[in-house]
Amino acid sequence: MSKIKVTPEEFKSFSKYILDISGIALTAGKEYLLETRLSPMLNRLGCKSYGELLKKAQFDSKKELKNEIIDAISTNETYFFRDKSPFQLLQHKILPDLIDKRSTRTPGIKPSIRLWSAANSTGQEIYSIAMTLLEMGVTPQAYNIRLFGTDISDAAIAQASYGLYNKFEVARGLEPARLAKYFTPHEDRYRIKDEIRSMAQFKKMNLMEPFTGLGKFDIVLCRNVMIYFTTEDRRRIYENIAKTLEPDGYLLIGATESLVNDTDLFVSQKYLNSVFYQFKNQ
Ligand SMILES: C[S@@+](CC[C@H](N)C(=O)[O-])C[C@H]1O[C@@H](n2cnc3c(N)ncnc32)[C@H](O)[C@@H]1O
Repeated sequence: MSKIKVTPEEFKSFSKYILDISGIALTAGKEYLLETRLSPMLNRLGCKSYGELLKKAQFDSKKELKNEIIDAISTNETYFFRDKSPFQLLQHKILPDLIDKRSTRTPGIKPSIRLWSAANSTGQEIYSIAMTLLEMGVTPQAYNIRLFGTDISDAAIAQASYGLYNKFEVARGLEPARLAKYFTPHEDRYRIKDEIRSMAQFKKMNLMEPFTGLGKFDIVLCRNVMIYFTTEDRRRIYENIAKTLEPDGYLLIGATESLVNDTDLFVSQKYLNSVFYQFKNQ
């Protein structure tokens, strides 16, 4: 393993590069993080310094090194039914309200439910929502369901698309009954069943870039990602999210996050112990 240290100048230029390509702000003191996450790449490519690795990435026309750096630097921490309360909120408040509002009396027209998980990581968030829907009797047969998951990380999107999890990942947040019901053993891992897999679509997307061709959503989850961004970027992203949300739509953010310093487009609503956001004039 390499013991190469990042110099102060290299850290400055590397963190600027990472900010430009992902919006992830590596503040002073995070040198260890850069070294821990990028030293395997440094070794593999035979680079003698972090400056050399940066140059290689900047001149890599195929952008493979850029994507590898994003995969290494982004924190993909997630688990099934993370924080529990957002899923209870969806089950007991948001989805029943939405179904009520979207139900049509026209025979043959299915009510629509469109949900976007921005920065969904490896898919646990979207699949937890799919399980919640099925357990409420909200099936693709009766509803027009769009569950859309995006993330900047190629590796995270690939795993979400395969729906393949190791035994540690399925042990986090997933009750044994749900594991048995919705997964099939696949070698030493577990694969999500087609019934759930087919309810979701995944796509690579960088929240720093313009949001194009996404369509409109009834519910947006943007959880545990804004913490990595600057206030200015957070403000711009919330404005972009607002444009994708129906006027009566719902925004869910992470349990430890707040919109207070970032946007005043939304107001918080409380249901039991959970908070969600809607546009001001709801
Ligand atoms: C900590 S995970 C949160 C996953 C999930 N939302 C949850 O709460 O469990 C943060 C995710 O944000 C993604 N991410 C970081 N920067 C991003 C960006 N600029 N655009 C889109 N996704 C980004 C990372 O790749 C990572 O998968």
